[in-house]
Amino acid sequence: MAKSNPFAFLSFLSNFVLLVVLQFHVSISLESPTTESVYVPFLRCLINQTNSADEVSNIVYSQTNSSYTSVLQAYIRNSRFNTTSTPKPLIIITPLEEFHVQASVICAKSIGIQIKIRSGGHDYEGLSYFSNEPFIILDIFNLRKITVDIENETAFIQAGAILGEVYYRIWEKSKVHGFPAGVCPTVGVGGHIGGGGYGNMLRKYGLALDHIIDVQIVDVNGRLLNKESMGEDLFWAIRGGDRASFGVIVSYTVRLVPVPEKVTVFRVQKFLEDNLTDLVVQWQQVAPRTDDRLFMRLILQPVDSKVNKGQLTIRASVVALFLGDADELVSLLRKEFPLLSLTKENCTEMSWIDSVMFWTNWPNGTLPEALLNREHSANFLKRKSDYVQHPISKEGFEWIWKKMIELGGPGFIFNPYGGRMNEIPADSTAFPHRAGNLFKMQYTANWDDPSVDADKIHITQIRRLYSYMTPFVSKNPRSAFLNYRDVDIGTNDFGNNSYKQGEVYGLKYFNDNFYRLVKVKTAVDPENFFRNEQSIPVFPNKE
Ligand SMILES: Cc1cc2nc3c(=O)[nH]c(=O)nc-3n(C[C@H](O)[C@H](O)[C@H](O)COP(=O)(O)OP(=O)(O)OC[C@H]3O[C@@H](n4cnc5c(N)ncnc54)[C@H](O)[C@@H]3O)c2cc1C
Ligand SMILES: *[C@@H]1O[C@H](CO)[C@@H](O)[C@H](O)[C@H]1NC(C)=O
Ligand SMILES: *[C@@H]1O[C@H](CO)[C@@H](O)[C@H](O)[C@H]1NC(C)=O
Ligand SMILES: *[C@@H]1O[C@H](CO)[C@@H](O)[C@H](O)[C@H]1NC(C)=O
Ligand SMILES: *[C@@H]1O[C@H](CO)[C@@H](O)[C@H](O)[C@H]1NC(C)=O
Ligand SMILES: *[C@@H]1O[C@H](CO)[C@@H](O)[C@H](O)[C@H]1NC(C)=O
Ligand SMILES: *[C@@H]1O[C@H](CO)[C@@H](O)[C@H](O)[C@H]1NC(C)=O
Ligand SMILES: *[C@@H]1O[C@H](CO)[C@@H](O)[C@H](O)[C@H]1NC(C)=O
Ligand SMILES: *[C@@H]1O[C@H](CO)[C@@H](O)[C@H](O)[C@H]1NC(C)=O
Repeated sequence: MAKSNPFAFLSFLSNFVLLVVLQFHVSISLESPTTESVYVPFLRCLINQTNSADEVSNIVYSQTNSSYTSVLQAYIRNSRFNTTSTPKPLIIITPLEEFHVQASVICAKSIGIQIKIRSGGHDYEGLSYFSNEPFIILDIFNLRKITVDIENETAFIQAGAILGEVYYRIWEKSKVHGFPAGVCPTVGVGGHIGGGGYGNMLRKYGLALDHIIDVQIVDVNGRLLNKESMGEDLFWAIRGGDRASFGVIVSYTVRLVPVPEKVTVFRVQKFLEDNLTDLVVQWQQVAPRTDDRLFMRLILQPVDSKVNKGQLTIRASVVALFLGDADELVSLLRKEFPLLSLTKENCTEMSWIDSVMFWTNWPNGTLPEALLNREHSANFLKRKSDYVQHPISKEGFEWIWKKMIELGGPGFIFNPYGGRMNEIPADSTAFPHRAGNLFKMQYTANWDDPSVDADKIHITQIRRLYSYMTPFVSKNPRSAFLNYRDVDIGTNDFGNNSYKQGEVYGLKYFNDNFYRLVKVKTAVDPENFFRNEQSIPVFPNKE
């Protein structure tokens, strides 16, 4: 899809409609599966596979079940895919045990139905819970056991746990251990860790996946494998390659990291009127190079100006975590980042668990138990990503602010790299974006208006902003972050062109690691049972 074409969304829409129509016709002639035609044989197969009729009868929801809609909606996190026209799963399976997952894979394969795997449901494009071909959902939110072992500094975490639970269970046992993963507590472990999950300890400790010691995965034959039995290639691939292309992750065993008893946080805001451009230029020099213990996220947003009424301005917020005390941080930043004018009054020292809640924007005084809450406020959203490898000039930023104000919608989150990320080779796991990146950008658009027009406007705006950024970001490939799922960068229809289509988004997400991923995929799932709109393709048949 053309990046700069404002009508790209329309053509996407009309393709989509065409697809749905085509599928409808095909389905009639091929007797497309229905909830009835799948539910009964699936359950029969599950009972046969597990010998536990009572138990498995309670884990399968057909569309006629009165709980079906609430189970489906419980882990939808983007309202765009919560509409009556969003394609729905024929059945939802909610395993309670590992062997339920194994049996479900075997049964889905024997019936020949596509499965979508969902853990926390935070996929920005909803790829864990809808598809344009008939599908069922394997929803593993019930598999959420966490066992923290402080003596060995490890944690066993089932894929259906959420990050907030992980942080809480660590904190319960130790005030000087943590885990370097994402900053939103409701994000699911299943999609997050293997996708390259990162958070505010990225510069000190790298990604969540850099701390994986072991993984349990159910493969296409229903076998439950671990690091040893899956082999080196598959263990490499599921750390950063698309996890849902290779099997169902059941659990991770991870290494914990040390955190100080007191950490320091701050959140500081500036506007265009406060010489924000100089500040951002300086941020760009400091944030990726400073002390590894310091992570300074920069959030940029067009907002109403308080100085010039009726006009938009740009607001920058610098949000930081420092694994040290406030005095050290203030003296470090006075030296390295004078334009921030940070004072000790701007900083707060707190425990690591309180810093997790500070980063979530929860009010001061919130108890850690709040991290166990799985509820999540919903809105409509679209995200895109880029990597910046060369500093953007002051003139460049001034032009970018102008474009952001013109569009008046989407904003950015800049996340600095450097530190530990520079030390890990780009091919040591399937996650490729390491040394050479100054920062990763997330493009953000959020809205509440459910109308089709609003959707069109916001999507068009964010795509324009992405197109304006072309001169400033990585090229050949223009890299993207898998966890910031974006279907604009290419999708797969599993037709004769599947490999070529896969190469388009695959090179962006995985750079050259794409080719090894295809090799592993072809070896472990040659019939491409585990597939999604952006999965790793198999090598084309050489006939
Ligand atoms: C509010 C919000 C905040 C976020 N913050 C961060 C952040 O700070 N850092 C960061 O790195 N990312 C962040 N993300 C992105 C997030 O990491 C990804 O969306 C991640 O994939 C979510 O995992 P999930 O289990 O919740 O998602 P799901 O939607 O359940 O799954 C995402 C993908 O993984 C696959 N998958 C899920 N579970 C399994 C499994 N058990 N086995 C195999 N495949 C599976 C799905 O099929 C899908 O393709 C955020 C997202 C949101 C919505
Ligand atoms: C039950 O499972 C066995 C293998 O475990 C298989 O051979 C048999 O065909 C299955 N029967 C049905 C009805 O699915
Ligand atoms: C709905 O499905 C669940 C899970 O299989 C089951 O426990 C429940 O009895 C079903 N409810 C109805 C009304 O059929
Ligand atoms: C989905 O829609 C239901 C109402 O049908 C609503 O209760 C729920 O909050 C919505 N979820 C999201 C993420 O939009
Ligand atoms: C730590 O790991 C060792 C080796 O895996 C194991 O024998 C021991 O029981 C573990 N310690 C605890 C407290 O579980
Ligand atoms: C930082 O603290 C100083 C007081 O030392 C205050 O004047 C300033 O407004 C604070 N800055 C921000 C951005 O909060
Ligand atoms: C912005 O920079 C100019 C020149 O560098 C300076 O004169 C002015 O005081 C600065 N404004 C603010 C709000 O810092
Ligand atoms: C949080 O509250 C405590 C006391 O309730 C107070 O001492 C502290 O300064 C507050 N922190 C912030 C960042 O407001
Ligand atoms: C795909 O290839 C097969 C055999 O090479 C051919 O018969 C079929 O028509 C092709 N399908 C499409 C959609 O091009």
